Amino acid sequence: MPETLQDSLKKEVGVEAARLIQSDMIVGLGTGSTVRYLVDELGRRCHEEDLHFTGVTTSRRTAIQAQSYGIPIVNINDVDHIDITIDGADQCDKHFDGIKGGGAALLWEKIVAVNSDYYVWIVDQSKMCDTIGAFPLPVEVIPFGSQHVISYFEHQGYEPVLRRDALGNVIHTDENNVIVDLHLHHIDDPQALSEDLIHTVGVVEHGLFLNMVDKVIIGSKNGPTVLLNPYK
Ligand code: 5RP
Repeated sequence: MPETLQDSLKKEVGVEAARLIQSDMIVGLGTGSTVRYLVDELGRRCHEEDLHFTGVTTSRRTAIQAQSYGIPIVNINDVDHIDITIDGADQCDKHFDGIKGGGAALLWEKIVAVNSDYYVWIVDQSKMCDTIGAFPLPVEVIPFGSQHVISYFEHQGYEPVLRRDALGNVIHTDENNVIVDLHLHHIDDPQALSEDLIHTVGVVEHGLFLNMVDKVIIGSKNGPTVLLNPYK
C-alpha cells in the first residue's frame, strides 16, 4: 500500500475515533503515527468545540503532543479509572488477538489497556490479518542479563533481534528497558507463546494483546468500518 494512502487511512480512523470522546472523560491515549492523528483531532475539538477531558498517556511522546494542545495529562496512579483508551496496533486477527509495540511503548500501553473500562484500536486495513506474526513481536526486556534472554529466545527458534535506531544505538523504552523483536512469521498458538515469554526471567512484558480490545475501527478507502469483539 502506498504510504500516502496508508497515512490518509490512519487519519480517517484517528478522526473517527475522536468522536468517541466526551467532556469530563478520563481518556487513555495510545502511541504511534495513527494516534498522532487522533490527538491532533482531539486538540482541534478542545479548541473549537470546547471539549475538555483528562488524558493518561502510554508514552512520553504522546504526553508532549497532547500537552501542546493544552490537554491536561495526569499520571495513571492519580486516577481511579480510565473511561476509554484509544490506541493503534501493528496486527489484529479475527479472534481479536493482536501485536503491539512497534513504537516501543507496549508496556505502558498494556498497563493503560488493562485499567480501561473500554479499549479501542484504530488501524488501517493493512493491519488486519488471518494469523498474527508477520509483524515482528516486540518483547520488553530488562537490560541486566538481556543477552541471556536473547540466547534463550534463539534456542527456542524465535529469531530475536535487539532493536536499534538508524544509527545502530540500542533503543530504550520509557522505562529504560530494551526491546527484542521476535521474527516468528506466523504465531499459531499465541496463548502458549504468551505463557513462555511472560515466564522468562528478565522479560517485563510482551506485545501480544490477546482478546483485550473491545472495538476495532478499520480505515479503508470506502470509509471506516467497526468491528465489535463478541468474545469479551
Ligand atoms: C506503539 C504501538 C503502536 O500502536 C503500533 O506500533 C501502531 O503504530 P502506527 O499507528 O504508527 O502504525 O504499539 O508501541
